[in-house]
Amino acid sequence: MVMLEQAAHLEPWSRAQLAESLHGRYFSGSLWQQEQLLGYFIADAVIDESTLMNICIAPSWQGRGLGRRLLEHWLDACRQRRLATAWLEVRASNQAALALYRSAGFAKAGRRKDYYRAGEEREDAIVMQKPL
Ligand SMILES: CC(C)(COP(=O)(O)OP(=O)(O)OC[C@H]1O[C@@H](n2cnc3c(N)ncnc32)[C@H](O)[C@@H]1OP(=O)(O)O)[C@@H](O)C(=O)NCCC(=O)NCCS
Repeated sequence: MVMLEQAAHLEPWSRAQLAESLHGRYFSGSLWQQEQLLGYFIADAVIDESTLMNICIAPSWQGRGLGRRLLEHWLDACRQRRLATAWLEVRASNQAALALYRSAGFAKAGRRKDYYRAGEEREDAIVMQKPL
């Protein structure tokens, strides 16, 4: 996970953050080919809502429908838990992720100004939600 995280994300989570996210109120799912980890999601669940904390596909496997499968896996897991709403945040410049979320039925619910680091600059987060 640490290697995939560093390869896929602009601001990768640390090993400690990843380890912590495998316990407690978090739940996760992963995609494998034999022994090779291709991608994963990490979400939390609080009362009747879930927030997607992390989703990534290994760079060499992106663009082949795996991100969509992983996202649907998270949404199915939310429905099984009878949660009412799914939430996520995404960098305003992340066109691939924005297109994926829109096509999966997420709608923009707000904007957090300067939420993410982008090198020396800051970048807004788009907050999106989907009723389940
Ligand atoms: C975002 C991410 C999870 C998408 O996974 P993926 O496997 O590459 O995406 P898929 O092949 O399943 O494509 C699903 C949809 O995403 C959109 N998409 C994917 N790549 C895209 C690109 N390069 N440009 C624009 N849209 C793109 C399309 O809408 C696509 O649907 P379509 O194939 O029917 O047109 C993946 O690119 C990733 O891990 N990125 C780095 C980490 C990241 O940004 N995570 C999201 C943080 S919020």
